Amino acid sequence: AREIEADLNETLVTEAEIHAKLAELARRIEADYEGRDILLVGVLKGAVMVMADLARELRPHVTMDWMAVSSYGAGTQSSGVVRILKDLDSDLTGRHVLIVEDIIDSGLTLSWLLGNLRSRGAASVEICALFRKPDAAKVEVPVRYIGFDIPNKFVVGYGLDYAERYRNLRDVAVLAPHVYS
Ligand code: PRP
Ligand code: MN
Ligand code: MG
Repeated sequence: AREIEADLNETLVTEAEIHAKLAELARRIEADYEGRDILLVGVLKGAVMVMADLARELRPHVTMDWMAVSSYGAGTQSSGVVRILKDLDSDLTGRHVLIVEDIIDSGLTLSWLLGNLRSRGAASVEICALFRKPDAAKVEVPVRYIGFDIPNKFVVGYGLDYAERYRNLRDVAVLAPHVYS
């Protein structure tokens, strides 16, 4: 197989920086949810790595569930029209839901998801996102826990893909333009 490194420019956030940040967020979450059971909802597939590491960093008992949504019809631009490809298995009634996402780009996916989950009778619904691109925002998303604000560049790794590739990189890096141009 071809070396992944040839497709990458600079490393933006290292695995160690990600783990340190998730530990910091986990301490805040533990304090905020003291005495309450948390249902972590991961958004497939990008959030798989964040979910795995955040869940193991949290000391209290948590449960995990997953949703798969599609917001990118045929084009490469997020349309804001979101389809559920895989729904939750859990009933949200009375639950404290924490949505776990890898990145907020335009914000359209999470803004739709927040509305959708809030309509299901949960006791609370909050968002934890590891990355956010403030310069790409089309809608403001009320995020309770945010890891890093990053520049509006094409980044991959730690769950983030380009055409389903690069998700298994440990660090987050800028994709070299020759890959997509
Ligand atoms: C990516 C990313 C977020 C979403 C952010 O998912 O993982 O879920 O886009 O974009 P937005 O803020 O502009 O809506 P994608 O739809 O690529 O699916 P994936 O998680 O399977 O890669
Ligand atoms: Mn995603
Ligand atoms: Mg993707």
